[in-house]
Amino acid sequence: MAGFVKSDFESQYRTGAETDWGYPNLVNGEERSEVGLNYIRAIYEPVLRTMWQEVLAEAFPIARTDDVLIIGCAYGWGCEIVEELTGANVVGVEVSDYVHAQKSGDDLADIDAAISAAGLDLAGTRAQQIRDKYHTPGPQITATVLQEDLLSEESRGRVADALGAKEPTIIVTEDIVSYMTDGEIDALVKGMDAYTEAVTKAHITRSNSRSTQRYLS
Ligand SMILES: C[S@@+](CC[C@H](N)C(=O)[O-])C[C@H]1O[C@@H](n2cnc3c(N)ncnc32)[C@H](O)[C@@H]1O
Repeated sequence: MAGFVKSDFESQYRTGAETDWGYPNLVNGEERSEVGLNYIRAIYEPVLRTMWQEVLAEAFPIARTDDVLIIGCAYGWGCEIVEELTGANVVGVEVSDYVHAQKSGDDLADIDAAISAAGLDLAGTRAQQIRDKYHTPGPQITATVLQEDLLSEESRGRVADALGAKEPTIIVTEDIVSYMTDGEIDALVKGMDAYTEAVTKAHITRSNSRSTQRYLS
């Protein structure tokens, strides 16, 4: 199971980064495209925060005594948010090699690549404004994010170890099912079904601006 590669993050996530400053401006008298940023913390941490606030208020509560497994958490920003909002014990899993290769770096190279792609000078004022607003220093992953697919007992055992030798009480896919093939979903559900029925299992999606929740039957 491969998960997202770089181009998936680029095609699925794109936000104009300059609208606040009276975009468009010109390069050598020519109009240029707006700098577009992809999956970066400064933009998607607030999106995940709103989504999780809605999920906790409208779909299911999470108590500080819960042990939560978040599936498809990418850099684990949602794991940090759930921990902060609920005090629960949270572990994320993310299968993508790309995410794990990026985890100890920051987002500066991606931001500079987006600035250059729009034809802007990396030494210019606008480039610095964009970095000041959107760059987050430090590693991309600070939560506990394992590269596990949950398909074997060994994989589920490593998740239990990360939770402190405990099985999760809540398992949630975090906006992943609408990006997966039927075969991938079948495999994932098999992994989730290996956990007992006492465990709350849910799929969260945010296909529109507002999150919606769907539950496994
Ligand atoms: C659309 S992104 C969502 C990222 C993040 N959860 C969010 O809501 O911003 C879907 C993520 O799920 C991951 N993924 C896909 N299938 C997975 C699986 N079976 N187990 C864990 N992660 C998976 C992908 O690699 C990708 O990072």
